Amino acid sequence: MIRININGRDYDVAAEPDTPLLWVLRDTLGLTGTKYGCGIAQCGACTVLVDGEATRSCQLALENVGSAHIRTIEAIEQDEVGRKLVEAWVEVQVPQCGYCQSGQIMAAAALLSQNPHPTDADIADAMTNLCRCGTYNRIAAAIHHAAA
Ligand code: FES
Ligand code: FES
Repeated sequence: MIRININGRDYDVAAEPDTPLLWVLRDTLGLTGTKYGCGIAQCGACTVLVDGEATRSCQLALENVGSAHIRTIEAIEQDEVGRKLVEAWVEVQVPQCGYCQSGQIMAAAALLSQNPHPTDADIADAMTNLCRCGTYNRIAAAIHHAAA
């Protein structure tokens, strides 16, 4: 058993230590808001917050989570930054297919927590998640909306 803290709650997980956190979230805990895209830390669909840092959970082994606090999209509205981001995403109507958007919002939450008023350049630097539908302009607009 490996104990991890997800969205403020401890879970004892029976899985191999090298199991990616993404598998544990989706298959063991049923937290399917975090998506599987590439599995090789390239696309960002699996982004969660690890002690506030945007982290690609497909490449984070269970044994390396330790005592970190993990936040997933299911708990994004627990704080003001997350609430404002979700409101902005709705206001700007960001998603197209929606598949990448959980990861995008988690990456945006990490950005705004560290930099409450990012410039376009800051957003471009921080938001490295891929969107096959090309919603990048609306993502940037929603981040500015939430920051305002
Ligand atoms: S699924 Fe993790 S970065 Fe693509
Ligand atoms: S909204 Fe379709 S991949 Fe981003």
